[in-house]
Amino acid sequence: MRDISDCLELVSPYTVLSKYYDHYTISNKKYFAKWPKFLITNYQEIYNNLPTTLLDVACGTGKICSSIKKEYPDIEIDACDMSDAMIEHAAEKSKINYFKADMRTLSTQMKYDMAINTFDSVNYMLTIEDFIAMLASVSSCLVREGLYIFDNSTTLNSRENFDCFLNYEEKENYSLIHEAEFDSRDSLQISRFTIFQKESVHWKKSIEVHKQKIWKCNEVKEMID
Ligand SMILES: C[S@@+](CC[C@H](N)C(=O)[O-])C[C@H]1O[C@@H](n2cnc3c(N)ncnc32)[C@H](O)[C@@H]1O
Repeated sequence: MRDISDCLELVSPYTVLSKYYDHYTISNKKYFAKWPKFLITNYQEIYNNLPTTLLDVACGTGKICSSIKKEYPDIEIDACDMSDAMIEHAAEKSKINYFKADMRTLSTQMKYDMAINTFDSVNYMLTIEDFIAMLASVSSCLVREGLYIFDNSTTLNSRENFDCFLNYEEKENYSLIHEAEFDSRDSLQISRFTIFQKESVHWKKSIEVHKQKIWKCNEVKEMID
């Protein structure tokens, strides 16, 4: 069997997918719509106040932080991601200050009241060391007693939705094949995106392989402690 990494068209995660990410995740629109209120209400319940400053870590195309900004214009928001391509698309959406940063080595001058990290981004932390580095670096960007909210995809989600998964989307200028499998032994969810983009008379093929570790709640809790 040919090793996927031998493919010449292999590009790093989100290099090409970033262009189609918002459209591809449109079925999660209802879920995305609930996030701003959910996140900010959680903060208000603890602190009886709105956060003054917020950092969106691994902000992707800025869907969540731009809708928080719309609903809560008084909150000062900065956002970062490791992918230049995702940040470029985010910057088209809103005038939030976006910057490039790896969530394992984040360091900011400003200290934020709240940090968020949504839609399975922490699952890109593949080792305990990476996960702990992410927790420590985000924590270093917070004020004392600041709040960090992140989600973590579950084994059930991987088993039910991403094992032997295949989805195909065809549009006029591109087609996207999403294959996924779940390796339950190592708790690894592997997604392979094969994207064909129309370029004048020919089609350009790109492949992205995304590896995500599915952490159990007790593992996350231990790493936090
Ligand atoms: C599934 S997307 C989620 C994006 C966004 N949070 C949302 O809710 O739509 C995962 C994001 O994590 C980012 N990411 C993965 N590893 C990262 C790292 N080490 N540091 C910063 N961002 C990372 C990717 O570039 C991508 O934008």
